[in-house]
Amino acid sequence: MPCPALPDGFDFTDPDLLHHRVPLPEFAELRRAEPVCWVPQPAGLAGFQDEGYWAVTRHADVKYVSTHPELFSSSLNTAIIRFNEHIERDAIDAQRLILLNMDPPEHTRVRQIVQRGFTPRAIRALEDRLRARARAIVASARAHTGPFDFVTQVACELPLQAIAELMGVPQEDREKIFDWSNKMIAYDDPEYAITEEIGAESATEIIAYAMNMAADRKQCPAHDIVTQLVAAEDEGNLGSDEFGFFVLMLAVAGNETTRNAITHGMHAFLTHPDQWELYKSERPETAAEEIVRWATPVAAFQRTATQDTELGGKRIREGDRLGLFYASANHDPEVFDDPDTFDVTRDPNPHLGFGGGGPHYCLGKSLAVLEINLIFNAIADAMPGLRLVGDPRRLRSAWINGVKELPVSTG
Ligand code: HEM
Repeated sequence: MPCPALPDGFDFTDPDLLHHRVPLPEFAELRRAEPVCWVPQPAGLAGFQDEGYWAVTRHADVKYVSTHPELFSSSLNTAIIRFNEHIERDAIDAQRLILLNMDPPEHTRVRQIVQRGFTPRAIRALEDRLRARARAIVASARAHTGPFDFVTQVACELPLQAIAELMGVPQEDREKIFDWSNKMIAYDDPEYAITEEIGAESATEIIAYAMNMAADRKQCPAHDIVTQLVAAEDEGNLGSDEFGFFVLMLAVAGNETTRNAITHGMHAFLTHPDQWELYKSERPETAAEEIVRWATPVAAFQRTATQDTELGGKRIREGDRLGLFYASANHDPEVFDDPDTFDVTRDPNPHLGFGGGGPHYCLGKSLAVLEINLIFNAIADAMPGLRLVGDPRRLRSAWINGVKELPVSTG
């Protein structure tokens, strides 16, 4: 039964929607009137047999679904809420080799191995180098005498360098990885003219590159995550497919998300000058989490019910898909005072921008928070007078709240 609280034909996963805006008014209406609501989709979309999904909009329900993988699977239909209309079934099947699209016990096994590369010690070890990178990125952006694009000149660079440092990718190969990961993510946006084939080729190239790195580390071990994963592969604990797909996932998960958090964060600061002044003078450590709540770069992931169950008073049938709308959860007034206020001192801030706290909770969170802190500290030091000179141009996507261009100027 379609949701009466939404206009006819409204679909949160229609890429034209995020292309223009985050549907906060519709989320607010659903949280109030029908927090778990059935949204029909046109037939044959996204390779899924079911024509619709339950929109889950309240913080408590998004958390509940995320923390009950036995009831709500990430692998049955994968975690991506809507693929490109023309994607091949095989490509969706291959997605299940990615951590994000696994269920326990495979997920538990792979996650235990790959998280060794993300210990607090491993992330701390990157801090000084990333701080120097952040300062260099800002110094080169500051050299522009006229307007420049904040996304390409500032926001893109640090996430790319962070993943490359973590994986031990040499400097000369970093642009290649960046280019491939962009091509895999931008397929919904016609401006990039990325066809499904180009996206698939890029995925293949990253996996081949990862396999070469693995072969190299077998010969010459280094202090990086690839060396650790290769050791696990040798012990028979990680398949070589799983290794390749994990590197692929890092390239996508770590780049696009953090870049958008930084861009939305800058936009939020420049449109809330009181918060920018406060940040510049006090540098509150709470700012990074508020930026992620405010930005919610991953708009939604999905789960599929493994059995008949109930949620928010609705009967969910085995096989039904559920959309977890993190942006809605992050504006839930049941949890956040003044949820529509950007407040960099907000504390506590139990936002779900990194996921709902279940087994898939973002593996790169500490790295992302570190990057956000480093870049805004560098901007506040060296470009405190940055100003907006145009509107953001948004990415067309079914599930990424992205910005392609943000015109700014230091003068
Ligand atoms: C998972 C958001 C940065 C690696 C996730 C999930 C979200 C998310 C929403 C899914 C959680 C769930 O399903 O419960 C973000 C945001 C970021 C960010 C908003 C930046 C602001 C990063 C970075 C990396 C990373 C920098 C790595 C370098 C991963 C991985 C997973 C993941 C590997 C899958 C974990 C699993 O399935 O067990 N992230 N992420 N993320 N993220 Fe992030």
